[in-house]
Amino acid sequence: MSKEKMFHALMEITQEINTIHDINELLRRVMDIAMQTLQADRGFIILKKDADDEAFHVAIARNVSQKDLADLTSYSSSVVRTVLGNGESILSYDAQADERFRDASSVILNKISSIAAVPLRLKNKIIGAIYVDASGGIGRFIEDSISFLTAFANQSAIAIENAKMIESIQEENQKLRREVEEKYTFEGIIGRSRAMSRVFDLMQKVMKTSATVLIEGESGTGKELIARALHYNGPRKKAPFVAVFCSALSESILESELFGHTRGAFTGAREDKKGLLESAENGTVFLDEVSEISPAIQTKLLRFLQEGEIKRVGDTKTRIVDVRVIAATNKILEEEVKAGRFRQDLYYRLNVIKISAPPLRERVEDIPLLAEYFLKKYSKKLSSPVDGFSRNAMETLLSYGWPGNVRELENTIERAVILAASNKIEREDLQIAPQKARLEFTSSLTLKEVEKSFVLKVLEEQDKNISKTAKALDVSRRWLHYRLKEWGYEA
Ligand SMILES: Nc1ncnc2c1ncn2[C@@H]1O[C@H](COP(=O)(O)OP(=O)(O)OP(=O)(O)O)[C@@H](O)[C@H]1O
Ligand SMILES: [Mg+2]
Repeated sequence: MSKEKMFHALMEITQEINTIHDINELLRRVMDIAMQTLQADRGFIILKKDADDEAFHVAIARNVSQKDLADLTSYSSSVVRTVLGNGESILSYDAQADERFRDASSVILNKISSIAAVPLRLKNKIIGAIYVDASGGIGRFIEDSISFLTAFANQSAIAIENAKMIESIQEENQKLRREVEEKYTFEGIIGRSRAMSRVFDLMQKVMKTSATVLIEGESGTGKELIARALHYNGPRKKAPFVAVFCSALSESILESELFGHTRGAFTGAREDKKGLLESAENGTVFLDEVSEISPAIQTKLLRFLQEGEIKRVGDTKTRIVDVRVIAATNKILEEEVKAGRFRQDLYYRLNVIKISAPPLRERVEDIPLLAEYFLKKYSKKLSSPVDGFSRNAMETLLSYGWPGNVRELENTIERAVILAASNKIEREDLQIAPQKARLEFTSSLTLKEVEKSFVLKVLEEQDKNISKTAKALDVSRRWLHYRLKEWGYEA
């Protein structure tokens, strides 16, 4: 190859490789050019982990088996070390006769005749090496091959360094982007609406603290999900999260459940028992439906929130417990205070931070996101091929009012995945009726009475099946049990 030809080849190559910013693609191209130009049969490029370090790895190899590589790089203890260590090039016209290589099994087995290796040099540092070899006739590589390879390697080293830099900048960017995203979302809580961003912002602020949090929101808006996320993303995550459904238990049971009792405190109390607050030591206690607790327990709870102290039922001793309290209610607690049903001082203690879980109808833009999320969840769980919504179905989802909020949406989609006849959910599969049940209501009825007659009607329709009724109403079974008991119906 003439000097001129080589120069032109180099120019072209340099221009080409400088436009490749993907490190792997670049290495492939550098390897190809080196092998083509020198008519080599095999080749590899090694890169040092760090310019000041001895450690290196094979970044790309052509026609070189894993086994050969091990051999090559081990006799290359001499080759590689000479090139990487001293920055010297290596040329062997006749490897079979060359005492440096003739004993190497890969040289023998592959009938290697010529070997050329040069360092990848950047300024004064050696960042790696290019190695090529050829079988067949002696003297495939000559001094000019080394001149070419050296000049080519110098250009390649710059391109490799640039590509590495670009890659690390991109990685850094991605990392930052992930951090930003993580900052505003919590695993399993879906939502990109402004209303949910506000929730995430607040959660972020209180997450690292032990501040008492009050979560207000309609049924099915994700209050429990928020409470769990606060616990499991915060400093107390290794200690227990204990949920207490305050409205399901009678006053005396709730009291001994929460605070514990001593042996003999009441009939049936055969031994001392820790309460849930003590069991949650160092963790979080979640007081669900907190508006439903009786005045007597409100008083005890207030003392606990003020002093951090509890007294087991029947005990004279007070105990200090360290528990974070998160309370939830689907009522507006302030109105309960105004109506005299909830202690104002307890309200203030609970309401240190208030998070309002927005109803789904106020964040319609989250519906497609949630719908897709639940679709994935249930088609995976049910091994169903359903993978999308028809246009009509999506319109229906967007225009419906969702009185049962996210829980109702979730149930609707689970059912639709089961009912769907094709791989798209159709409007009919959603089974959203304009009205769930028709009842005669007169304006003389109170809201409580309407609630009661509505629930009982649905219960009739569902053959008195509690689970089905709860599902149809989009309330929890616990809620339904509690209401039925309140109305004197044995479940
Ligand atoms: N933003 C959300 N992203 C994903 N799933 C959600 C979201 N909000 C609620 N859910 C799901 O909806 C269901 C109801 O949520 P959750 O039990 O937290 O509601 P809630 O407000 O406590 O309801 P209730 O007042 O009836 O107890 C759960 O299955 C929950 O996983
Ligand atoms: Mg709940």
